[in-house]
Amino acid sequence: WILMATARTPTNIAVIKYWGKRDENLILPINDSISITLDPDHLSATTTVAVSPSFEKDRMWLNGKEIPLSGGRYQNCLRELRSRAGDFEDEKRGIQIKKEGWNKLHFHIASYNNFPTAAGLASSAAGFACLVFSLAKLMNVKEELGQLSAIARQGSGSACRSLYGGFVKWTMGNEMSGRDSKAVQLANETHWEDLIIIVAVVSSRQKETSSTSGMRESVETSSLIQHRAKVVVPSRILQMEEAIRNRNFSSFARLTCADSNQFHAVCLDTSPPIFYMNDTSHRIINLVERWNRHEETLQVAYTFDAGPNAVLIAPNRKVASSLLQRLLFYFPPGPDYELNSYVLGDKTI
Ligand code: DP6
Repeated sequence: WILMATARTPTNIAVIKYWGKRDENLILPINDSISITLDPDHLSATTTVAVSPSFEKDRMWLNGKEIPLSGGRYQNCLRELRSRAGDFEDEKRGIQIKKEGWNKLHFHIASYNNFPTAAGLASSAAGFACLVFSLAKLMNVKEELGQLSAIARQGSGSACRSLYGGFVKWTMGNEMSGRDSKAVQLANETHWEDLIIIVAVVSSRQKETSSTSGMRESVETSSLIQHRAKVVVPSRILQMEEAIRNRNFSSFARLTCADSNQFHAVCLDTSPPIFYMNDTSHRIINLVERWNRHEETLQVAYTFDAGPNAVLIAPNRKVASSLLQRLLFYFPPGPDYELNSYVLGDKTI
């Protein structure tokens, strides 16, 4: 026999960034973060997990190609799920798996990203969230979404935020076990439907410094990161929650841009410095800043993760189309450059 479960999970973009861990193994962050979940029709991971007594080892395929599953992160997620697995029984097919029985079984995992060729966006967030959700379904894990997010967190920190749609906060938590370091939904995707997200792919090349090693180096060498985590982010989180609650775009945009810039300042404050943005990224920031300065209320927010690609957020379709025109004029798409637009997305299904 063979049992299968499938899930689809959208990716998320942080507007208040997670950067720095206090526990590398459990993936516990040094500050809270807030993100928006994107539309799964355009940017998501779809994962099918299968279990059968005939499988001799765990195996995984990503976009059709087999990849190694040796990583400790996968094992950590699997251990958590196994310890919470439930009994499974299908009388008709004569299948019975007791809780402890899951420990002896192996999984085959096939995952697919529908990201546009050059989306250049991190896929680990959607990938791990989807893997944990589909395995939890398969193994009859009866935990609420918050606890599943704490398991997905152990795959990749930002993954915990992808289990919910709309606006999501990852609370850093205090417990050593990490049980309280999990995602909570601030508002669902219908709360502020007008927002349009435009991704300007400046380069689809793989980044040189991964987020994991970049943030480790920042924690070890940057003094700015401590001030950011202890003083700046806690106050920004409160302001951002209020901006989202009141759909106050000016405040939302001001905080989003400031936090992206501070995250990249921390990268510069790291020794040796880490450069994630390039000249084109800087020119896009200039374009948005100049535009915002000419208007009474802020028009567009920008944010950059651990790479040069710009994620731009417009308050409505009218501004988004004017933004697209400006981008197309100043930054005509080329072989390594693409423009895509997205709306807010729903949760994992
Ligand atoms: C810049 O979640 O990829 O995108 O926990 O080591 O897997 P690990 O790192 P990851 O880091 C994401 C960093 C970021 C900011 C964010 O998404 O909050």
